[in-house]
Amino acid sequence: MLLVLSSTLAATSCLHLCSPLMLVYGVTVVVGRRGTSTVLQCEDHRENRITAISWKFHHMNSYLCLFSYAVIYNEGPKIFTNCSTRISLSNTSLTIQDTQISDGGNHTCEISNPMGTVIRTINLQILAQPFVSLDVGSSGFPECKAIGGFPAAEISWIPHSDTIHTTKIKKSNDTWTVISTFHQWNGVTVTCFVSHPTFSNPWNSSIQTEKEVGKCI
Ligand SMILES: *[C@@H]1O[C@H](CO)[C@@H](O)[C@H](O)[C@H]1NC(C)=O
Ligand SMILES: *[C@@H]1O[C@H](CO)[C@@H](O)[C@H](O)[C@H]1NC(C)=O
Ligand SMILES: *[C@@H]1O[C@H](CO)[C@@H](O)[C@H](O)[C@H]1NC(C)=O
Ligand SMILES: *[C@@H]1O[C@H](CO)[C@@H](O)[C@H](O)[C@H]1NC(C)=O
Ligand SMILES: *[C@@H]1O[C@H](CO)[C@@H](O)[C@H](O)[C@H]1NC(C)=O
Repeated sequence: MLLVLSSTLAATSCLHLCSPLMLVYGVTVVVGRRGTSTVLQCEDHRENRITAISWKFHHMNSYLCLFSYAVIYNEGPKIFTNCSTRISLSNTSLTIQDTQISDGGNHTCEISNPMGTVIRTINLQILAQPFVSLDVGSSGFPECKAIGGFPAAEISWIPHSDTIHTTKIKKSNDTWTVISTFHQWNGVTVTCFVSHPTFSNPWNSSIQTEKEVGKCI
């Protein structure tokens, strides 16, 4: 039997009528920060003894690992894991230490007791704050950079111009380097804006372009 319920109340009241059963909850979004610890909860509001918990990690890079806990008759709890040693279980929650961008993904938790099983999916999104700067680049043009961010930062300029060139490069550590160059001389002041989910307001900084006689348009 498969019931799709969105409220715990409905799940609880159903328990008296139909058990054992399987409850499938919708996707919960959890946002974590790279380098900090993140807790994923697989709570079960039924006050029954838990016989098994399993977490399946579907990593962003499609790597899969399994963390399972089962109470075996006459033997007590047994844990199986082939996940990173940064991942541990306490009660029904998983704690990820020193969270990495690659820990993000859709993770599924199954928690069982004698009455049935509850399945939850957690969409874990890891953010990494980029380092931003605005300087005159080696080409002599203003260069706005957002390095080490996840997801990639968005860079825009005032004034708008057709001479803006922006590149996004994914680094081996899963972060993005975004570099935007404003290809213009004439002594005008330009402002770079960098938006990122880790910023409450876009970052901005202004710089004056070089006055190069003969190269002005
Ligand atoms: C972990 O174990 C599961 C279940 O046996 C398997 O499907 C998965 O490929 C394993 N992952 C790694 C990284 O060993
Ligand atoms: C585990 O749950 C019990 C009972 O709800 C609580 O008293 C205890 O503090 C929890 N332990 C951890 C490590 O969260
Ligand atoms: C997680 O699932 C959602 C909805 O099914 C999907 O849009 C998203 O791309 C998935 N995320 C990852 C990292 O696999
Ligand atoms: C990832 O790589 C970028 C570019 O090489 C670097 O600036 C950044 O510090 C790195 N981030 C982490 C978390 O290692
Ligand atoms: C630019 O950033 C400063 C803070 O550094 C802020 O006070 C100001 O409102 C921002 N300007 C714009 C146009 O967003």
